[in-house]
Amino acid sequence: MKIYLDTANLGEIREAARWGILSGVTTNPSLMARETGAGFEETIRTICGLVDGPISAETVSEDADGMVAEGRAFAAWHRNVIVKVPSTTEGLEAVARLGERGIRCNVTLVFNANQALMAALAGAFVVSPFVGRVDDMSVDGMELIREIAAIFELDPDIRTQILAASIRHPRHIAESALAGAHIATCPYKVLLKCMQHPLTDRGQRSFLEDWRKREAEMALPAAVDD
Ligand code: E4P
Repeated sequence: MKIYLDTANLGEIREAARWGILSGVTTNPSLMARETGAGFEETIRTICGLVDGPISAETVSEDADGMVAEGRAFAAWHRNVIVKVPSTTEGLEAVARLGERGIRCNVTLVFNANQALMAALAGAFVVSPFVGRVDDMSVDGMELIREIAAIFELDPDIRTQILAASIRHPRHIAESALAGAHIATCPYKVLLKCMQHPLTDRGQRSFLEDWRKREAEMALPAAVDD
């Protein structure tokens, strides 16, 4: 399973990109509105320069004509831009029409398996089931990923990828992978939490303490020239 970062914050993207784990980035209007300093186009173009993978930019029109117009403009910014549209009938039409032009779409705000199936049939590149928001309704969000994965598996013509969204904590990531998601898009702070473990900290501390006791005798190899 691949990891995307779910943010429009350039500092977070720059930092996580250095870790060598990022395959893409998702944004949405709320995440965009949280950032100040640069406009939408400039932010998306900058993200495309930081991460070489699919970068989702979300439309804000409510009708298919508007989504198609916005999507065509976004796609012209960079070859990696994926047009994010809502899981509505207007969104489905936009996916189909943008697909005819070779423009890839991410169908977002997916809360049941039928929405995911419809998006796939319209030709979505990815569908985004919102695991955390489903959990918030006292329903198992991971079961939604499992259902979608099982349905997609049954139809060899479906090549749409499942992007687990609304990830709230590290367990959501591992569970999404086991449930059959191809991608999980994660907030920066959840990625940081994934790498925190008290036994890692304690083990590293004791390794270094032991090393330092005899450091003088253990010459490190000289740095290799580039
Ligand atoms: C997906 O692409 C969305 O940006 C995102 O995962 C929404 O998650 P939230 O429920 O944390 O807002």
